[in-house]
Amino acid sequence: MSFFDLSNKVAVVTGATKGIGRGIVERLAEHGASVVVSSRRQAACDEVAAELDEDYGKNCMRIAHGVACDIERLEQIERLAERSAEHFDGIDILVANAAVLPFVGASRDTPPALFERILTKNLHNSFRLCQAVRPHMARRGGGSIVLIGSLAGLVPFPTLMAYSIAKAGLAHLARCLADEFAPDGITVNCVSPGSIRTASSARSGVDDDNRRSAAVPLQRVGEPDDIAGAVIYLASAAGSYVTGVTLPVDGGRSQLSPADRGVPTTHRRLWGTDLNAASGSADESLE
Ligand SMILES: NC(=O)c1ccc[n+]([C@@H]2O[C@H](COP(=O)([O-])OP(=O)(O)OC[C@H]3O[C@@H](n4cnc5c(N)ncnc54)[C@H](OP(=O)(O)O)[C@@H]3O)[C@@H](O)[C@H]2O)c1
Repeated sequence: MSFFDLSNKVAVVTGATKGIGRGIVERLAEHGASVVVSSRRQAACDEVAAELDEDYGKNCMRIAHGVACDIERLEQIERLAERSAEHFDGIDILVANAAVLPFVGASRDTPPALFERILTKNLHNSFRLCQAVRPHMARRGGGSIVLIGSLAGLVPFPTLMAYSIAKAGLAHLARCLADEFAPDGITVNCVSPGSIRTASSARSGVDDDNRRSAAVPLQRVGEPDDIAGAVIYLASAAGSYVTGVTLPVDGGRSQLSPADRGVPTTHRRLWGTDLNAASGSADESLE
């Protein structure tokens, strides 16, 4: 059996219908896990679940199941955990991947309500999600929680102030919960992506590979698979002695000095000089 085998494991992934989350559920299913595909739209969840069943479920019982959940709504987070555990008789893996980014711009221009929303929905609700899955993992003798952070949570990104703080909070949430959840055999870690090629980063206009790659020591933009690899490691037997860590998956960008990292100049260039014009959309890049 492979060191990375996830047979008989049940994984719940938020934001699983597109981008990084879609890449993660693909690899989880490929490694044998039963997967709960979650995002805000039930139809999209069902569609991805059906694709995973088609590709990986041939000799198994149904391996993928769609459950809509808006991570901005606490009651839906509770329902996601309950319905997932009920459907598959427990949960072994949680990947808290979905995030909200309703404001991009200078910190002085951040409306108080949006600042609060970004912190609450990204940080507090992830905390609630971890609490909601804990009893279902404990009942199965343990589990693995992976929070998807960001390079922006490791180094300052001036135009993403509230988001950066929330993502930094996720890294510390992993450290705090690692200790608390350890007696239940649950590991809690954070994976922090750098620039990853997804629909949201393309929509925001940050899709010029040359410009994005120039700021990366490995000289390329990341792919959802780069993040999926880290998740598979942390969720499998291979990573079972790792807890409380934050793993940057960013082509080496977080290791650079601020001047070489291209922050904030890179961001000014990428987002344009009129920062307010870029704000207010949930469709902005989630770097
Ligand atoms: N892409 C990057 O360069 C990058 C870099 C660093 C960190 N990250 C982090 O990686 C994660 C995924 O980013 P991505 O680029 O893959 O995003 P994406 O391509 O925009 O995909 C977002 C996914 O989340 C779902 N979603 C959006 N809002 C939601 C909500 N309120 N509740 C539940 N699901 C929601 C979307 O489906 P619906 O719209 O149907 O709900 C979709 O499945 C985020 O945590 C982000 O902060 C991304």
